[in-house]
Amino acid sequence: MIAVGSDHGGLELKQAICEMLQTRGLEFSDLGPFNESSVDYPEFGKKVATAVAAGEFESGILICGTGIGMSIAANKVDGVRAALVHDPFTAQMAKEHNNANVLVLGGRVLSVELGCQLVEVWLDSNFEGGRHQMRLDKIHRIEADRK
Ligand code: RB5
Repeated sequence: MIAVGSDHGGLELKQAICEMLQTRGLEFSDLGPFNESSVDYPEFGKKVATAVAAGEFESGILICGTGIGMSIAANKVDGVRAALVHDPFTAQMAKEHNNANVLVLGGRVLSVELGCQLVEVWLDSNFEGGRHQMRLDKIHRIEADRK
């Protein structure tokens, strides 16, 4: 199950991604927003990131204008590995090497077609584990050291 969220800058791409997920028969939940009013990206970033970190969703997709604000906000939540990607290669690496559990996109950077393609590449890629898991363990230790 995938949690999807955006701000007003990512609303159009969020809608297209939800339609694509629906077409592919993938389970998802749109956590908003649901109209074009201006909203603050940290609120929706937190909503999706905390739900993924709590295990309510397997993964999340966040979209703001550039993707920058959403990735900064989502990565504040322990257990979240949010990756801002711009092309098929970074979308693939985000899963294969970083096992990103939140994919972040820029709605004002990408065409709707490319944005949807990047979600598909990320979903269809697999984490490689091994040395990459060891590196993720080091990231988790950074979180643990803060407590
Ligand atoms: C909103 O205008 C814009 O700042 C936001 O969508 C995002 O790009 C922030 O990083």
